Amino acid sequence: MSVLHIADVTKTFSGGTNAVDSFSLDVADGELVCLLGPSGSGKSTLLRMVGGFEQPNSGRITIDGEEVTHLPPERRPTGMVFQSHALWTHMNVFKNLAFGLKLRRMPAAQIREKVEAVLELVGLAGYGDRMTTQLSGGQQQRVALARSLVLEPKILLLDEPFASLDQHLRERLREEVRDIQQRLKITTLFVTHGQDEALSMADRIVVMANGKTEQIDRPDVVYRDPKTPFVAGFIGTMNLIEGEVSNGIFVRSALTVPLPIADGPATLAIRPEALDLSASDIPKASVHRVTDYGSHGLVDLDLADGTRVKSMVAHPDMLRAGQGVDLLPRAFAAYRNNQQIYRS
Ligand SMILES: Nc1ncnc2c1ncn2[C@@H]1O[C@H](COP(=O)(O)OP(=O)(O)OP(=O)(O)O)[C@@H](O)[C@H]1O
Ligand SMILES: [Mg+2]
Repeated sequence: MSVLHIADVTKTFSGGTNAVDSFSLDVADGELVCLLGPSGSGKSTLLRMVGGFEQPNSGRITIDGEEVTHLPPERRPTGMVFQSHALWTHMNVFKNLAFGLKLRRMPAAQIREKVEAVLELVGLAGYGDRMTTQLSGGQQQRVALARSLVLEPKILLLDEPFASLDQHLRERLREEVRDIQQRLKITTLFVTHGQDEALSMADRIVVMANGKTEQIDRPDVVYRDPKTPFVAGFIGTMNLIEGEVSNGIFVRSALTVPLPIADGPATLAIRPEALDLSASDIPKASVHRVTDYGSHGLVDLDLADGTRVKSMVAHPDMLRAGQGVDLLPRAFAAYRNNQQIYRS
């Protein structure tokens, strides 16, 4: 059982930056939670506080019911992998991994056994004698991961561990890490600003902005039902259209959509795949550009006032730039004062 409990944690740096602001989160035993947010939203600061590399101004962090808020890193049951992997370059792979175990005074035979098992786990069996400088970037990241895993932490903390790698390798490594995490059932907090990474790996995603939680949900829910306009705009592609509601009708330029909410300003959120187009005598938008991706097409459209919207279509060859079309939203949500107030 390894449960991480973060309660009302705040970190203000000297100079007044509120990096993390009254943040709370519970991570269940064996769960992988992704912290997802734009640069500067406080993800690393939060992770560093869990790992003991940064002290919160207020709040509590407990692991399995034991308070660790003010313990130094080496006295916490956590293992952290940093973005810049920081392996010891004067040691070979084996020694990098054995170091922490030696500090714990583990017998040599047992150290060898453990290191070999963990190298096998990360796909680097037989690499013990290599110097870390003789490894590729992806292999170095795997050594960094192995170095954390070999100490059998209760909580694994990963801060954008694949950020420096190319797309292809990143995709492969995140699958491997997910596999390892599930096999070991290790409770994990994973920081990323890549939404694909979060959507594909996480049991739950915490979307962060300005040191606060915007939404905590399963990946599919975050995508299908974003609770704030920020999340709606941050995850996937979304048309966010500002307009006015009057007598149950949302209006922006020539676009009108029935919206049964009180009169006033509103932001309409429609996914491109939920915005159908049809030929019309009274067009609401004109086609700006059609991009054919083979499997589908993406159409950029302009409302009369210049507002740009996007639609995903099955047959892009039917459309031409300059053509007028009607817009038919199949599913949408509406936001007011930063809150979702309607969902079709
Ligand atoms: N040691 C520090 N001293 C002062 N301000 C800091 C320090 N570390 C971080 N900050 C500030 O705190 C805020 C949050 O930073 P943090 O590194 O947690 O963001 P992040 O979400 O990890 O961003 P990124 O995706 O770019 O890594 C930023 O405004 C940053 O400038
Ligand atoms: Mg960071």
